[in-house]
This record gives sequence, C-alpha cells and structure tokens, in this order.
Amino acid sequence: MDKILIIYGSEGGIVEKMAQTVREGIMETDGFEVILKKAEEASQDDLRAVSGIAIGTPDYFDYMAGTVKGFFDRTFYPVQSKIRGSLTADLPCVLFASGGTGGEPALASLKKISRAFKFNIVDTVASGARFTEEVKEQSFLLGKRLAEEIKKRKGKSL
Ligand SMILES: Cc1cc2nc3c(=O)[nH]c(=O)nc-3n(C[C@H](O)[C@H](O)[C@H](O)COP(=O)(O)O)c2cc1C
Repeated sequence: MDKILIIYGSEGGIVEKMAQTVREGIMETDGFEVILKKAEEASQDDLRAVSGIAIGTPDYFDYMAGTVKGFFDRTFYPVQSKIRGSLTADLPCVLFASGGTGGEPALASLKKISRAFKFNIVDTVASGARFTEEVKEQSFLLGKRLAEEIKKRKGKSL
C-alpha cells in the first residue's frame, strides 16, 4: 500500500480541518495509507518511503507557520543523500494555506522551500480564514488529485 504524508501547522484549527479533508480526498482512491501529522510531531523518518506529500500552513506574518518551517529545517540535510541526491526529488506534492488575506504569501513561502526539496508540485489551494463549503471542496479535490497523480505515475512505470 502506498503511503502519503500530510503535515500541517495550525493553532486555530482551520488548516487542521483542511488537512483532514485532504485526507478524505486521498481516501477516495483505493490503495493509500495516509499519515496525518502536525508538523512539530513529524520527523525525517516520515519523509522516507512515501509516495507523495501534502503540506498545509496558516499564514502567520506573511509566511508559513514556524512549526512547518521547523519541520523543513530539521529534515533538509537528513534527506540529502551523497550518493543518490535528494530522497525527496520529484516527490508528488500538494500545498495548501489559509490566511486572513487569502493565504497567498504563506503559499508562496511553501512553494519556495518545495524547490529546495525538489518536490513536484501537483496542485495548490490558498484560502481565506474560514473553513467554508468551498474551501472544504477545494481541500477534498486537492487530496484526490494527489492520489490520482500518484496512481497515474505508477501506471506509467509498470
Ligand atoms: C500570529 C498570527 C499571525 C497572522 N498573520 C497573518 C498574516 O500575516 N496575513 C494573513 O493573511 N493572516 C494572518 N493571520 C491570520 C491566520 O492566517 C488565519 O486566521 C488562519 O486561518 C489561521 O489558521 P489556523 O486556524 O489553522 O491557525 C495571522 C494569525 C495569527 C494567529
């Protein structure tokens, strides 16, 4: 069974709801196990042996949450292999953010760090500071798209 890691930061609960809904979207497709963790509880081990990753953050001061940045800071060197290069290179990834002004600055910061990890960004969602029906649907579709992209890639490599 393929594993997908969802990590997120959330003090107020909005991004947590988005993360839970991304998980529901992934689970629409058979064959996936989802590991859902707050960024501060995740480690480099969680990044190993996953087929895809979803990363969510609130916009705090026009940037990602400190806990999400901390996850990247803690794991960057450990996932660089001298022999094989970055272990996260080309890993299918979706990003989501929520902020009072729409979440775009936080999303931009996630995109920038994703380049260092060489994630392959499949899709993104930026939303306002409320978990509306629209945000729920967007989050669900985000998870679904990630799972479908991984399935598509597997099909090609068979
Ligand atoms: C410390 C702090 C800083 C924030 N800074 C911004 C900001 O710079 N821009 C913005 O649009 N929203 C900002 N917000 C609003 C949050 O991004 C927004 O409420 C978001 O939905 C919170 O997500 P959460 O409930 O998952 O923590 C800030 C909120 C907090 C608590």
